[in-house]
Amino acid sequence: MAAHTHDGIDWTSRVASLRRAAELDADAVRVIARRLTRTLPDRPTVVDVGCGGGGMAVALVEALTARGGGTVVLVDAVPEVLDAAVTAARAAATYENDTPTPTVRVRPVLADLAAEQPATFADPAHLVWASRVVHHLPDQRRAVADLAEALAPGGLLALGEGGLESRFLPWDVGLGEPGLQDRLAHARAEWFVRMRESMPDAVRLPTGWNTALTDVGLVDVTAFSYLVDHPAPAGPAVREWVVQQVRWMAEVGADRLHAADRHTLTRLLDPDDPAYVGRRDDVFLLSAGTVHVGRKP
Ligand SMILES: C[S@@+](CC[C@H](N)C(=O)[O-])C[C@H]1O[C@@H](n2cnc3c(N)ncnc32)[C@H](O)[C@@H]1O
Repeated sequence: MAAHTHDGIDWTSRVASLRRAAELDADAVRVIARRLTRTLPDRPTVVDVGCGGGGMAVALVEALTARGGGTVVLVDAVPEVLDAAVTAARAAATYENDTPTPTVRVRPVLADLAAEQPATFADPAHLVWASRVVHHLPDQRRAVADLAEALAPGGLLALGEGGLESRFLPWDVGLGEPGLQDRLAHARAEWFVRMRESMPDAVRLPTGWNTALTDVGLVDVTAFSYLVDHPAPAGPAVREWVVQQVRWMAEVGADRLHAADRHTLTRLLDPDDPAYVGRRDDVFLLSAGTVHVGRKP
């Protein structure tokens, strides 16, 4: 059976958006990849589950190349998403002395993380990176336990979860009531609750991620946060990301937003309207992500 996701999201239609986000996160994740791989053994195996647009995949290939090589296993349930990440990661790989073997091997695995055991993807993993994917799985605690299971003794599980909601619009966009960004965030947060509720066999995780890591037997549990900061006036990549983000938030918030805000969004998203958000000089991207890390004893 083909792998699939449980969240009702059409990820195939979001490939361009995932790639754009990967591009904008590149500087931040490059630092994280270096930090997480620093203490790994020589030629380690690292696994990026729910790899999305491949931003971290590229960063991991670069980080392992700098320390002599290894293997990067990329896992996703959506073939088009996985292909995009693998293409980006392989393009970042270098070849020693013109040999046909890259310094870092990139191995794709098409799999539903809720149905297949991550321990079968790599044998065993020195680092598992799971960013913004566990919350798309029905039983998040189970998923964390399964990811921990895939680790070699001493291996690290790094969960990218939580942080601060992205900001990208000025407080007053000049249409409708000021404060649109906050109302969009509120509608998205409600959608998120319903998304989890409507997931078949969903189980609540009534603790923070640090507790989840400790509960599955990991030690030295810690966390750090990183900033993605592209101030205004932003370049074309940020503007395109903002258009995609406004479109996504308008879609998921459609049933929860006031008619006046829906009208504002229609105008912001219409390239023929003078209010088109893709032409504004005052959009930006500011977000903070948190990485929770635990080590297998
Ligand atoms: C929000 S994106 C995160 C992408 C990337 N890790 C990041 O942090 O930017 C979630 C990713 O998880 C994948 N995904 C969702 N459910 C999955 C499942 N059940 N098994 C494997 N991958 C899944 C999606 O296809 C998508 O690529």
